[in-house]
Amino acid sequence: MREDRPNPPAILFLCLGNICRSPLAEGAARVAFAAAGIDARLDSAGTGDWHVGHPPDRRAQAEARRRGADISDLRARQLCRSDFHDFDLILAADEANLRDARALRPTGAAAELKLMLDLVAGREGESVTDPYYGADDGFAETWDDVSAVAAALVASSRG
Ligand code: 4NP
Repeated sequence: MREDRPNPPAILFLCLGNICRSPLAEGAARVAFAAAGIDARLDSAGTGDWHVGHPPDRRAQAEARRRGADISDLRARQLCRSDFHDFDLILAADEANLRDARALRPTGAAAELKLMLDLVAGREGESVTDPYYGADDGFAETWDDVSAVAAALVASSRG
């Protein structure tokens, strides 16, 4: 852990259900920040409340495990207004998540809000693949997307 960074970056990953894309993004970021030895406060949430309290989808857990991340202890929660004060950066998986988050954002809250893939050169404006309704191999593509996001976050945190 770097000692010269009094305020570690606080980053919230956002999707719809908080059981597939954003827990995978949190898992990929946890692995990437730990490997880089950089402290960060990382969390994830969903705009919807259907899965609150549930662990990540079993297919997401399996893909994360295959890539060296254990996300089994994560539990879904819903985005709330205080998140816009508690995090520096809120990263949405797709445009619908971004729109819903903008609608909830309290006036004057400091958090920066953007798409996850806006951080990845050449992928700006793209959505992270939503694997929920698709075949199991969609989760590998999602992991590839969110690990590119995690790598970009680590690179920009090296400052
Ligand atoms: P996520 O995927 O937003 O990446 O967690 C989904 C999870 C649940 C649903 C849709 C997408 N759902 O409709 O329940």
